[in-house]
Amino acid sequence: MIDMNHTALVTGASRGFGRAIATALATAGAHVVGVARDHAQLEKVEAELGDSFTPIVADAAEPATAERLLAQHRPRILVLNAGAAPLSVPLQQHTWETFSRNWQVDVRQAFHWTRQALSLPLAPGSTVVTLSSGAALRGSPLSGGYAGAKATIRFLASYAADESERGGLGIRFVSLLPQLTPATELGLGGAAAYAARDGVDLETFLARRGPALTPDQVGASVLQLITTTDHDHAAYLLGPTGLTPVE
Ligand SMILES: NC(=O)c1ccc[n+]([C@@H]2O[C@H](COP(=O)([O-])OP(=O)(O)OC[C@H]3O[C@@H](n4cnc5c(N)ncnc54)[C@H](OP(=O)(O)O)[C@@H]3O)[C@@H](O)[C@H]2O)c1
Repeated sequence: MIDMNHTALVTGASRGFGRAIATALATAGAHVVGVARDHAQLEKVEAELGDSFTPIVADAAEPATAERLLAQHRPRILVLNAGAAPLSVPLQQHTWETFSRNWQVDVRQAFHWTRQALSLPLAPGSTVVTLSSGAALRGSPLSGGYAGAKATIRFLASYAADESERGGLGIRFVSLLPQLTPATELGLGGAAAYAARDGVDLETFLARRGPALTPDQVGASVLQLITTTDHDHAAYLLGPTGLTPVE
């Protein structure tokens, strides 16, 4: 269980992985502050989680959002999960704007919140989990700059872990690299594009890949990362069979 007095802040908490992470943390006893841009979606999460959830409508990629919400809530658990759905088309069909979408949202968010977590700083014993992707290791040829953006996020978390140690801050920074799953809006778009590229229907594509990661497994794994006493690793791959440290 998490200490009941601890606040967790989850970006992108309105659906997909973020909603499941918020649910896992609230169920374990944390008060969860959930950030997203769509008020109606956040209200649905609040209806489910009740008093243990505070919805905040904000753009997580804006530096002022990180500054304001970290100063206001001082979370002991921070999950930087919000991410843009990449445009899933071959490289030559991208513009620079579509190619760099995940840099403008995912990396921008990770940079501002991580920087702010170190500068405040968050309390010793705090944990910051940032959502990278399995694509950071293998590439993602139909998603423009997505894989590079997610690789940068992993670097950012490791640089922050180093700064925390050098400064004696006691803040743990971990990145999580989930496998592609059709169980969220973002993942379904990617899976459908790769199925079309392979010339098969989505069902056939998914059957070939085997069991898929579920949002509930992501929520449980984030909880596991936060509560484990094993702090030897800074990055973990996540598939349907669980967490694997990335060396
Ligand atoms: N699904 C996969 O297969 C997969 C695999 C590896 C990694 N990931 C990563 O896991 C994370 C969650 O993905 P998901 O599949 O759960 O995606 P999703 O279902 O599309 O949910 C994305 C969440 O992020 C929020 N969001 C997007 N831009 C935002 C912004 N600028 N400010 C605040 N909130 C924002 C969305 O809410 P609003 O639109 O209302 O703001 C939503 O709550 C992402 O970082 C993604 O790259 C996903």
